[in-house]
Amino acid sequence: MKSLIVSALSFAVLVSAQTIAGQFDCLPAGDFTLCQNLWGARSGVGSQSSTLISASGSSVSWSTNYTWANGPNAVKSYANVESTVAKGVQLQNVQSAPTTWSWNYATQSSGIRADVAYDIWTGVPSSGTPASAASSFEIMIWLSGLGGIQPVGSQITSGISLAGHTWNLWRGPNSNWEVLSFVSASGDINNFDVDLNEFFKYIIQNQGVAPTQFVQSIQAGSEPFVGTANLVTTSYSVAINH
Ligand SMILES: *[C@@H]1O[C@H](CO)[C@@H](O)[C@H](O)[C@H]1NC(C)=O
Repeated sequence: MKSLIVSALSFAVLVSAQTIAGQFDCLPAGDFTLCQNLWGARSGVGSQSSTLISASGSSVSWSTNYTWANGPNAVKSYANVESTVAKGVQLQNVQSAPTTWSWNYATQSSGIRADVAYDIWTGVPSSGTPASAASSFEIMIWLSGLGGIQPVGSQITSGISLAGHTWNLWRGPNSNWEVLSFVSASGDINNFDVDLNEFFKYIIQNQGVAPTQFVQSIQAGSEPFVGTANLVTTSYSVAINH
């Protein structure tokens, strides 16, 4: 018994604070995958690393450090955690989708341009890679948008009350899918604790999203445009109950 506890402890130590720095590096992180995703790095100059602080089942703590310059209107990357379990459910079958996200900038340069956002992908097939031929909708929830950056498309509705917060909704096409971005209308939301199903119901009722669409992926991370920061997620969780 004692040796089991000791090996469990050393395993916990081993999995803590692993850092990835490659362009498309990923790490398993409990019920999540932590990925660097430097998809827009060519539009600027800089670097990024992402660190898994701890993971235990449905809760994960991680951070990302980046410094990006040039191309002030272009996203450089999307360091994120993607749930490996909260997916594969039709919107109409979601009973609830509770999520919590506590985050902060431990350090942040002046003039930073970056969002902190969910990226939720839906489509006709039950599974599909984000930003692929299988994607119909990309639903973003911006808990922060610093430096005057804007989502894809144009703002179509303002002052929506949903899940205890107020949002401005942006909509527009990107590649073969449609982007719906809920942007916090009252600044940074550092301690988020909501049911994502409120957003799902809203887009079915008000934005013509078919209830038969499958949730293919739920990601949570940050898209920097320019600046230097150490962004820390102290805890994040998400689930789909159906
Ligand atoms: C990230 O930035 C913080 C604050 O500057 C620093 O303490 C930490 O060592 C950095 N982590 C990595 C992996 O570079």
